[in-house]
Amino acid sequence: MPLNQPINNFINKRVWIIGASSGIGEATAHSLLKLGAKVALSARKTEELHKIQSQYPEDQTLVLPCDVLDDAAIENSYKTIKEFWGDLDLLLYVAGIYEPMRAEEFNLSAAKNIIATNVIGPMAACATVLPDFIIRQSGGIGIVSSVAGYSGLPKALAYGPSKAAMINFCENLYYDLKPLGINVYMINPGFVATRATANNDFYMPALISSEAAADYIVNGLRDGEFDIHFPKRFSLFLKFLRILPYSVYFFFIKRILKI
Ligand SMILES: NC(=O)c1ccc[n+]([C@@H]2O[C@H](COP(=O)([O-])OP(=O)(O)OC[C@H]3O[C@@H](n4cnc5c(N)ncnc54)[C@H](OP(=O)(O)O)[C@@H]3O)[C@@H](O)[C@H]2O)c1
Repeated sequence: MPLNQPINNFINKRVWIIGASSGIGEATAHSLLKLGAKVALSARKTEELHKIQSQYPEDQTLVLPCDVLDDAAIENSYKTIKEFWGDLDLLLYVAGIYEPMRAEEFNLSAAKNIIATNVIGPMAACATVLPDFIIRQSGGIGIVSSVAGYSGLPKALAYGPSKAAMINFCENLYYDLKPLGINVYMINPGFVATRATANNDFYMPALISSEAAADYIVNGLRDGEFDIHFPKRFSLFLKFLRILPYSVYFFFIKRILKI
């Protein structure tokens, strides 16, 4: 039994992707647009959003530049979606920043920026759409977290906690929103080859392309999954490792990541 209502048909589904200008968000936007969805594209890099827009019929996309650190910009973007499309069916919060960080080079200001983008940003987006979803008793919210949120990984001193927070947030949302008919999707990718991971100087096991990540996300939405994690060969292994004693967990993580 899927935990969410499966989405059998994406045609004319109104989707808002925050973080659509590159990587996983961009690839997911293309996948959904090809399936006939209408996609509102948000991020800071307006030019990149227009490049996506130019590849599809005019009425299929909206370009809504927005910085997730700016609550008013998020609210204005949502207002524009309602003006043009009446309502929103699915919010996909993909935006995020990743900066490798270890305790020896702990940088508080960078950590605050990571928490603001990866934790406060999705909360602000949810706060914006939820009142309407709750009145309507429909809609869906998907948040891209990460397998780095399952348990501590090296070099993720601020990123890991931000993603752990979002896993917990999605679980909380699910309890409250499921009875109201609102779908919640917790999306946890493993390593994906994007701008964010391009400078990683360590081995990234089971690395996949952003197009493959988008396929997993779209299939998860279609099947009504709550826990959309991928690639399974890596995410399932991490899920297993986290139930083991820490001595075993730390040993394997160091061996796998070769750090
Ligand atoms: N790549 C991986 O291995 C991996 C693994 C697990 C989870 N993830 C997660 O997947 C998501 C997408 O990452 P990615 O790998 O695709 O990286 P990416 O190519 O760098 O994409 C990040 C996206 O977030 C947007 N963004 C960042 N800060 C923003 C802000 N202040 N306001 C609005 N948009 C902002 C960027 O747009 P602008 O710069 O144009 O604003 C861009 O569209 C992130 O949440 C990341 O943590 C990635």
